[in-house]
Amino acid sequence: ASLRAFVEALPKVELHVHLVGSASVDTVLALAKRHPEAGVPADRQALAEFYEFRDFNHFLKVYWAVQSMLRDRHDIETLVVGLAADLAAQNARYAEVTVTPYNHRLDGMPGDELLTGLATGRARAAAEHGVELAWCFDIPGEKGVEAGRETLVFALRERPDGLVSFGLGGPEVGVGRAQFEPFFTAAREAGLHSVPHAGETTGPATVWSALHDLGAERIGHGTSSAADPALLAYLAEHRVPLEVCPTSNVRTQQVESLAAHPLRRLLDHGVAVTLNTDDPPMFGATLNGEYLAAAEILGLRGVELANLARTAVDVSFLPGQRKAELT
Ligand code: HPA
Ligand code: ZN
Repeated sequence: ASLRAFVEALPKVELHVHLVGSASVDTVLALAKRHPEAGVPADRQALAEFYEFRDFNHFLKVYWAVQSMLRDRHDIETLVVGLAADLAAQNARYAEVTVTPYNHRLDGMPGDELLTGLATGRARAAAEHGVELAWCFDIPGEKGVEAGRETLVFALRERPDGLVSFGLGGPEVGVGRAQFEPFFTAAREAGLHSVPHAGETTGPATVWSALHDLGAERIGHGTSSAADPALLAYLAEHRVPLEVCPTSNVRTQQVESLAAHPLRRLLDHGVAVTLNTDDPPMFGATLNGEYLAAAEILGLRGVELANLARTAVDVSFLPGQRKAELT
């Protein structure tokens, strides 16, 4: 069978995808017609150009513009169910999805509106698509410690079904990880897993900080770890997995090309790597596409792809029983 057929048939899970960034092109076009003030093009060709990112900060501005068009529970439910349909089409029956409650509140969506949309969407994802969704509530780092405190309080007070982890996103440059230590400590004590972004747009020192200061159990991206042999050894020895998103790194211009991506080097050092899409329609990425790129461009063999898929199940925050069912 062809490599594509092999990848498509592989049962996969997605461990790094942002809810806002999972909005389909059609959903974004529909929202853009309703909310012209957001500055998001309502025309397909113009939206494709809008999604050509000059750098990571430009990407974030576009992401925030799309986020600003989400106003109520129905918008959230639409995104959640749409993501579940897309996951099912990739033969992915489980995903951990990052949600940023602080940013939604700033954009005018009350917490209970967000939670209702997540809950109804999650129930429909399971019933209509056979896809189980878990949530990561993350701090938008650029908003500082106040956003950290509010995100923690919201997560622990509401504790919605499916909430498994606590994250940190947004820019890394000028946003030290360590300032968020108290919130991650409290989240971990309350039983949430620690999954900050680190080493996507800054160097290995940020990954070290995520490990030491935030007790990271997995690292969002972590790609720059490849430049630090001691860090690679640490990640491998302590089995801290990286949520690698190759197409995302190319599209935000963090890596020159897929061929230049350090994925191979990470694997060669024994680091547990998972493949993920980050913000799939914004990057023109699919989960199958990430596996295919790993094979075709980085030379991974079929057995290595199957190992990557299995690693993602292993390092997910699913209960052991469900992990066994998914492999
Ligand atoms: N990194 C940081 N923040 C983000 C990302 C990302 O890859 N995607 C959406 N918000
Ligand atoms: Zn991300």
